[in-house]
Amino acid sequence: MTLLSLQNMKTQIGQYHVLHDISFEVPQGGVFVLLGRNGAGKTTTLRSIMGLWQPQPGSVTFKGKDISTLATADIARLGIAYVPENMGIFGGLTVEENLVLATAKGRFDQTRLRRIYTLFPALEQFWTKQAWSLSGGQKQMLAVARAIIEPRDLILIDEPTKGLAPSIVAAMGEAFREIAQDTTILLVEQNFNFARSLGRDMAVIDDGRVVHRGTMADFAADTDLQGQLLGLSA
Ligand SMILES: Nc1ncnc2c1ncn2[C@@H]1O[C@H](COP(=O)(O)OP(=O)(O)OP(=O)(O)O)[C@@H](O)[C@H]1O
Ligand SMILES: [Mg+2]
Repeated sequence: MTLLSLQNMKTQIGQYHVLHDISFEVPQGGVFVLLGRNGAGKTTTLRSIMGLWQPQPGSVTFKGKDISTLATADIARLGIAYVPENMGIFGGLTVEENLVLATAKGRFDQTRLRRIYTLFPALEQFWTKQAWSLSGGQKQMLAVARAIIEPRDLILIDEPTKGLAPSIVAAMGEAFREIAQDTTILLVEQNFNFARSLGRDMAVIDDGRVVHRGTMADFAADTDLQGQLLGLSA
């Protein structure tokens, strides 16, 4: 089943036409990976889905409903969470406070909280610490935890492994695999090895257009295509 569908999405930021033609379908379940060089339009695509930029009306369908003209808060309420590249956490608040603020009613569902502790033990350990004092990886874990503290159908995650040590990246991968059992993840990544280890379906964006769509297995096997679209050397 298709969870999210982008059909010829175009987004203009001020006078700049940034996205020209973004079309792909994210099936329900698992991890869908969006790849592309710097400045290709990956973040703009996530922001357009979330209503933070206004995409072309009619171009974004979530669970069969056109969401392209909805306000961001209404899109979030339908079951989409967004973990931006700067993570969107509050440095001056504790881990607990950051998570409480991400709940719908200001209190925790204990089952979900226990799941977060299991996924990210560091968050339980540093529960009363202010977020600024966490390591980069722990901050990223907190950002993801905020996205799943309420039940969601889809989470959009922008470059979560940027600047993290390999051991932390591996732990993050394990957590994403677990989360993707019941929540679809749309993952933007520049770390191709990480993306390859998680993704089932994928698309590549270049200059505001989708230039490739397919399975990760096929793309991972085609080093020529990787070189051509991402500038990766074999
Ligand atoms: N607020 C803005 N105003 C004007 N142009 C913008 C704005 N945000 C992004 N752009 C432009 O849109 C294009 C796509 O940017 P975007 O941030 O979506 O790329 P990206 O694929 O996420 O890149 P990166 O890998 O560096 O994060 C770039 O050319 C960028 O300069
Ligand atoms: Mg970006």
